[in-house]
Amino acid sequence: MQLRECLKEMIPYTAGKTETGAIKLSSNENPLGPSPLAMEAVARALSGMNRYPDGASALLREKIGARIGLPSGQLIIGNGSDEILAFLAGAYIATGTNGITASNTFSEYTFSIKLFDGEIRKVPLKQGRFDLEGILAAVDGNTRIIFICNPNNPTGTFVTQKELDKFLNHVPENLLVVIDEAYQDFADDPDFPKTIPMLAARKNLFVTRTFSKLYGLAGLRIGYGAGHADTINDLFRTKQAFNVNLAAQAAAAAALEDADFVSRSLSLVKEGKEQVCQGLERLGIPFYPTQANFICFETGEDSEALFKKIILRGIAVRPLKSFGLPTSIRYTFGTRDNNELFLSILSDWKKGAL
Ligand SMILES: Cc1ncc(COP(=O)(O)O)c(C=O)c1O
Repeated sequence: MQLRECLKEMIPYTAGKTETGAIKLSSNENPLGPSPLAMEAVARALSGMNRYPDGASALLREKIGARIGLPSGQLIIGNGSDEILAFLAGAYIATGTNGITASNTFSEYTFSIKLFDGEIRKVPLKQGRFDLEGILAAVDGNTRIIFICNPNNPTGTFVTQKELDKFLNHVPENLLVVIDEAYQDFADDPDFPKTIPMLAARKNLFVTRTFSKLYGLAGLRIGYGAGHADTINDLFRTKQAFNVNLAAQAAAAAALEDADFVSRSLSLVKEGKEQVCQGLERLGIPFYPTQANFICFETGEDSEALFKKIILRGIAVRPLKSFGLPTSIRYTFGTRDNNELFLSILSDWKKGAL
């Protein structure tokens, strides 16, 4: 077989690892499990699984649209928001074009661009944050997409409303700016951008979101994209007929209504963030301030080796070598007990007793 040239250097995705018995806090999932209303909806939906699902996910688009204030024609549903990233690249990237993102961010932007033989340009973070001026400087006539992860995975840092507005005022209008908001549900800073209302005035803005994190549906694979109706029509051309299965559509629609689960999940993250930040401060471990359900901290050593020691004590975290941060670790906030155990492991490490 003759593998396409652009795939030859592609490294398959490395997922957050775990080991039997270890608590998995390496992939920013919801430690409370799935939304109970979603589980009930899946049980009901399964009796219809002899039929194909609604290929356009029409009902779910209506529901999401009503929730966030957009017509359903400005929404598309994906088999995870990962799939939306691939739709975007499939629609706009070809040989000779390029996409831009940051050096230390989610790897699927690079994957999507390379999949369609585009060039990926990576701009280093500045103090752990997206460097929007650096990104603007990397734009040329062949740039088609800019991916901004907000809050950023893995640092948890964010671009403010003011910064984003200024940036968008300088970006050429024929270049798509994609804001990946997989973790926006957890952001509570008043300066965090409100992107959905901006879509009306900015044709070249696009937002992706997921049901994998807050709603606890990572295993079902469902996320969405929001943008101008013309962009959505372009993306529908790249979509497989029945990309989102019936259980996922039913689960997402029900999860949106599960106010109790959402509120418990948000409280857990808020409390976990306080608990872990205080613990890290006490231990003198430097970390980035986070707007997400995880935190990125600096170990000053090979974090892959440290990860191996931590997992033996019962917690799987994410060493960040594959994100270009070989001495950092990302930890997903867990339950109070999980966080306590994690801090006690770190305390032992600091004492040289791990
Ligand atoms: C920034 C970011 N975007 C997208 C995703 C993927 O989300 P989904 O599960 O909807 O494909 C993740 C998953 O970890 C992520 O961290």
